[in-house]
Amino acid sequence: MELDVERLGAIERWTILGESRRNSLSVALLRELVAHQARASADKALRVVIVTGAGDKAFCAGADLKERARMDEGAVAGFHKTIRAAFDGFEALPQPVIAAINGVALGGGLELALACDLRIAAEGAELALPEVGLGIIPGAGGTQRLPRVIGAARAKELILTARRVPAAEALAMGLVGQVVPAADLGPAALALAERVARNAPISLRQAKRAIDRGLALPLHDGLDLENRLYQACIPTADRREALIAFAEKRAPVFKGE
Ligand code: COA
Repeated sequence: MELDVERLGAIERWTILGESRRNSLSVALLRELVAHQARASADKALRVVIVTGAGDKAFCAGADLKERARMDEGAVAGFHKTIRAAFDGFEALPQPVIAAINGVALGGGLELALACDLRIAAEGAELALPEVGLGIIPGAGGTQRLPRVIGAARAKELILTARRVPAAEALAMGLVGQVVPAADLGPAALALAERVARNAPISLRQAKRAIDRGLALPLHDGLDLENRLYQACIPTADRREALIAFAEKRAPVFKGE
């Protein structure tokens, strides 16, 4: 088992295990991620997923380079299909996903965080896409998702220099949304998850889709997409519940229906 899954009410915390190899991504771990994504996407009581790494040194040090050294070229190509499925799977999950970056996020580790919806980092964490220094390029979404998050100019600077970005700088460039002392990362990620989980589940799903899919579209097509996703919220019980709760001056109780 390379992934620990802990249920905290409507929230799950997925912890990548393998501190001694800095939580690097093995084939077995990627398969576990895909299996848990399939389970989670069918779980209506699950509202938010937090992904983090074991220990305090690494969120994830990217591909398991020791496993990689034993692979032939065909196996490396196969690994890339699995890593893509695992990372796209976070984007495809109906629930918002928070990356709680507890240490270095390098290569595939940063690409994993980029496939999540929200990122929060511990002071002392460092983020990088070091691939061009290893004779490859970011191959699990880095060249596509990083510029969408921080803009093309900054993404090129990070990818072409391969340099490590400290947490404070990652915050300044919008690569992470929040930086907290390392000891506070778990509670802060949970508080963020709880803040998100309070909202209507169908709205969360539709908003996540509208943003992710809309980014790939021209503005007018994106606005049409937004409208279709908005329309799907109109007949929901949760929308009516919000109106009743407002009239009754109480917090709404959402059921995801
Ligand atoms: N794959 C497999 N093993 C890894 C690894 C990876 N990506 N990253 C680290 N490890 C292993 C090290 O080989 C070492 O194992 P050992 O004790 O058997 O020698 C152990 O984790 C601890 O690594 P170490 O470098 O001693 O720890 P550190 O805390 O000083 O530094 C890193 C950690 C992650 C910064 C450093 O190991 C590193 O730069 N790793 C390479 C990351 C990388 O380039 N990833 C991109 C892949 S595209």
